[in-house]
Amino acid sequence: MAGKVETAREEGTAVENSLLIKGSLDIEATLRDSDLPEKDRLKLKTLRDQLLAQDIAKHRRKKLWKEVDWVINRKRRNDQKKQERKKRRLEIRTGVREPSQKRAKIVRMADSDCKIKVALDLSLHDLMTEAERTKTGKQVQRCYAINRRMEQPLRLYLTGLRDAEAMTKNLFGFENWDVFRAEDDHVSHFGKEKVVYLTGDSEVELEDFSEDEAYVIGAMVDHNRHKGLTLKRAIEAGIRHARLPLDKYVDMKSRKVLTIDHCFQIVLNRANGLSWQESIMRAIPARKGAQLKDDDGNEGVDENEKEHDHADDSDPDLGKESDDECHGSS
Ligand SMILES: C[S@@+](CC[C@H](N)C(=O)[O-])C[C@H]1O[C@@H](n2cnc3c(N)ncnc32)[C@H](O)[C@@H]1O
Repeated sequence: MAGKVETAREEGTAVENSLLIKGSLDIEATLRDSDLPEKDRLKLKTLRDQLLAQDIAKHRRKKLWKEVDWVINRKRRNDQKKQERKKRRLEIRTGVREPSQKRAKIVRMADSDCKIKVALDLSLHDLMTEAERTKTGKQVQRCYAINRRMEQPLRLYLTGLRDAEAMTKNLFGFENWDVFRAEDDHVSHFGKEKVVYLTGDSEVELEDFSEDEAYVIGAMVDHNRHKGLTLKRAIEAGIRHARLPLDKYVDMKSRKVLTIDHCFQIVLNRANGLSWQESIMRAIPARKGAQLKDDDGNEGVDENEKEHDHADDSDPDLGKESDDECHGSS
């Protein structure tokens, strides 16, 4: 009799054990491992109890084993990731692999071969609402970020900083930015002869950028409340002004007054050797429906459809692409 009970008990244990082993996953053996983190031990014990339950449905059992797999193999997965990271670092150090863009070496402006100067005119802060200043801050921040990521950053100036705290307080880490700063405005800083104010309202179409001049972009989001303002100011100051040659190279569904960062991106692209067409198409978001013109000025292919994701949109470091369009007329 005693022998029968003993056999029954042994059979029970065998059944229990078989419920706790699947392929290479052995719950009891893992629980005996003294290196198992406490958090995983508790989780495994809970899963074990659930698996031993009598009336457990097949799909539930499958799900529980998936969780067991996840817990038991956590350490192996982490070790594997560590090895991969180590290998990647070694490959980068030995030149077998390019560093990821995010970690690409930052070239300081002073070391850049690109000597083209762009100034963001921060003196316009008092013409904006607080919400507009916040949006402007985001666009200025984006200009700084994309410039910093370039192989050849251009010389970025922030001018009109005197009394512009309402604006600069929105710029994250501003104190440490690698930019040229000027309390004065662009005219006093560069001299009348050396500046060109970029404005979509100008009659003059820009031919190209020159290292001898500084190109000013109005750091302003105004939703067309101040249409023509920067042009008017440029005329009053007696300085040159020009619009980017958008009409010459693209047809756009929407208006041709750009956001600060799209304008800056075009300058940056061009300064880094892209053609005007490429510089514009890569900077302007697809929703603006820009289409390249052919040599006869006819509408051509929608390059944005071909090459939709322009380089910066998906980079978390750069934040969201700005969507604060300025609704000026073309
Ligand atoms: C949102 S717009 C501001 C519009 C503002 N009402 C004005 O009078 O300039 C921001 C800045 O981007 C630049 N910008 C926008 N579109 C441009 C274009 N098509 N050509 C040249 N610069 C442009 C200008 O410097 C402009 O001040």
